[in-house]
Amino acid sequence: MTAGNGDQTTEKLITNLTPELRLQVRSASAQRGLNISEATTQALELWYRTEDAPPVEAKDAKSWGTWVPAGGVARFSDECDRRALTKVQGIAQALTLWIHSEAPPVSSAQSKILRRMLVAIQKGGVGKTFLAGGLAQALAELGLRVLLVDYDPQGHLTRRLGQEMIALDSGGSLLEHMLGKATRHLRRSIVSLPQARFGDRLHLLPACNDAFLFDAVMATMRAGREESLARALEPVERDYDVVILDGPPSLGLAMDIAMTYVQRRPGELADRSGILMPVWADRPSFEAYDLFNAQRRQLMTLTRVQVDELGFVINAYDSRRGASVQVHREGWEERSAPGVLAVFPDLKEQRDAQDQSIPLLEWEPDCSLSMGLRSLAKELAA
Ligand SMILES: Nc1ncnc2c1ncn2[C@@H]1O[C@H](COP(=O)(O)OP(=O)(O)OP(=O)(O)O)[C@@H](O)[C@H]1O
Ligand SMILES: [Mg+2]
Repeated sequence: MTAGNGDQTTEKLITNLTPELRLQVRSASAQRGLNISEATTQALELWYRTEDAPPVEAKDAKSWGTWVPAGGVARFSDECDRRALTKVQGIAQALTLWIHSEAPPVSSAQSKILRRMLVAIQKGGVGKTFLAGGLAQALAELGLRVLLVDYDPQGHLTRRLGQEMIALDSGGSLLEHMLGKATRHLRRSIVSLPQARFGDRLHLLPACNDAFLFDAVMATMRAGREESLARALEPVERDYDVVILDGPPSLGLAMDIAMTYVQRRPGELADRSGILMPVWADRPSFEAYDLFNAQRRQLMTLTRVQVDELGFVINAYDSRRGASVQVHREGWEERSAPGVLAVFPDLKEQRDAQDQSIPLLEWEPDCSLSMGLRSLAKELAA
């Protein structure tokens, strides 16, 4: 039940939780500006004070864990024994009680604060572009005004959405704006996706081939490098509710700058802006994440900004690939801070939509990937 994290003041509580309850906990925590560990600690305190907590359906609960204050695991275990409950039932009761306890509504000021999300991990081909594009489509369908930024020199997102790259030396690329060398307003580089379902709310800042020079050019910039992306996008930000960056498959300067852009701003609640990480249920994804997270932590230490992790999305999941993918999936699901927000199957509709250069939600609006993207969008928009 316990595991050390090098920090003597907390210990890991490992139990099982249903996927539905996990999502509800995440959304309720975000609303209250808490991380999952703080939410669980509050939930347990509330449950200890409530003798007659009602039973909760806990069928199909999956492995789940979080950090609680030292001594919390034994106390929880004893209380479950005293109430003659399994730990799975105990934690389900505690979290359900807490979710339905008085929740401070998200203030309208908070809901108006622009949210900045970066879809990233340096591992190639895991579904960053799929996720960034799909999530943006689903958020626009929900009624939010979304700016998608193709921040990857490969320009996959731009082409997959059926759009043209920005011409070299046009004076309007993102890099030119970041360097302060642009000759036209950024708004003139942004295109609106034409599909009616997005109601003119889904906009794209296409990639430009000059982005291949990104790290080399940025390395020569003497001052204001970290804030260059914020400076470039600032003139259009007020037109949007959400900005989503499709990250490149690399670490380095471009990634530092993107991470800095999605930092938590003063007055912003936790886990509203930050990084969304697509991963596979395989070992290399864990290794990739450890390196990626090391860069995020180092950046936070050096620059004293808070860059939140919004969560993992397990992508292209296929349980038929053997026991090891199920074990790896559980490995991701045991992490609760950040947690797994969604598990997406490997579906041919995504590749078909890509071949046609048509947004997935337009190409196959009722496939399970489109539905999953809509659930994810609802959760992140909560
Ligand atoms: N859930 C899915 N089902 C089927 N195909 C998928 C799925 N997710 C991604 N793909 C396909 O897998 C390939 C890689 O996905 P994608 O380009 O989104 O990954 P990426 O992480 O952005 O890659 P890169 O590192 O090159 O930027 C693409 O052909 C994409 O259409
Ligand atoms: Mg990509």
